[in-house]
Amino acid sequence: MLTMTDVLRARRLLAPHLPPTPAWSYPLLDEAAGRTLVLKHENTQPTGAFKVRGALNLLLTERGERGEHGEHGEHGEHGEHGEHDGGPAPIVTYSTGNHARGIAYAARAARREATIVMPIKTAEFKVRAVQALGARVELCGDDMGDAEARAHELAAEHGLRLVSPGDEPALIAGVATAYLELFEQHPGLDTVVVPVGSGTGAAAACIVANAVSPSTKVIAVQSEQAPAAHDSWHAGRCLRRPNTTRVDGLATGRGFEGPQAILRAHLHDFVLVSDDDIDGARRLLARRAHTQAEGAGAAALAAVQRYPGLAGTHVGVIVTGGNATEDELAR
Ligand SMILES: Cc1ncc(COP(=O)(O)O)c(C=O)c1O
Repeated sequence: MLTMTDVLRARRLLAPHLPPTPAWSYPLLDEAAGRTLVLKHENTQPTGAFKVRGALNLLLTERGERGEHGEHGEHGEHGEHGEHDGGPAPIVTYSTGNHARGIAYAARAARREATIVMPIKTAEFKVRAVQALGARVELCGDDMGDAEARAHELAAEHGLRLVSPGDEPALIAGVATAYLELFEQHPGLDTVVVPVGSGTGAAAACIVANAVSPSTKVIAVQSEQAPAAHDSWHAGRCLRRPNTTRVDGLATGRGFEGPQAILRAHLHDFVLVSDDDIDGARRLLARRAHTQAEGAGAAALAAVQRYPGLAGTHVGVIVTGGNATEDELAR
């Protein structure tokens, strides 16, 4: 199980790369919600989403383990994650967007090659954003399941380091730095609502809340059109579920064991909202908080809207990302 030591180490590692993101309230939004909301603006990250924290922590940690420090450091003997033609094994991972962009950003910072497998239907601007950061993109299959299978194949064929978007403790420790920041910026939050795909963000929130703000309840939210993590948590074991949501960051078809184990220990509740609820929340964020959120980034607000009884009056709402597709912007 991850501890706060891992989170504090991640914070030290990330500090030279990412400044804290703002977390504040908007009176017009509070009026609509009937309570004080604190929006944590992870949509202001250089990649437009919180995922970059986890990716940087993972790849900078591995660079440290190889004995490479600083811009012109030397390669170590043999890193824990394998050598490849004398250098560190290139990364391969799979993603619909923000994990991909985070890994590409971190790979550039850690001077590591990366290949990202993305489903064929991935919005072109998301593909180009990853390529612009210097990573290689392979488009494959209809959904994350197909992309995952291809990433495993590539890892086996070419000896690449496969990064799971969910089952990597360093990703969770990295994204946990967002919650450490939030509780320092706004002590005394009653509830924090976190959108879930694989569950790294919600698991991170649980670890930090449990350690530094134990009276804060962490509530997770997923789309009704992709309820695998929600159903896994309620069942107490990882399940597969249909995945038809149009909300990219929430589009996973299975529970991930690493985050689920943490959620089972600490999560207060897990709720579902519809894709339409999420669109409504996106409009509210645009009109009342001059904030562009992508679907996943508005899901926490959708949950607050849909469940007015959510515990607490002072609610932290994580705007996890702002990379809205053209289709989302049009709606
Ligand atoms: C903007 C955004 N919010 C939330 C999530 C869900 O995060 P997690 O996969 O850590 O549950 C994602 C995942 O990609 C995302 O991109």
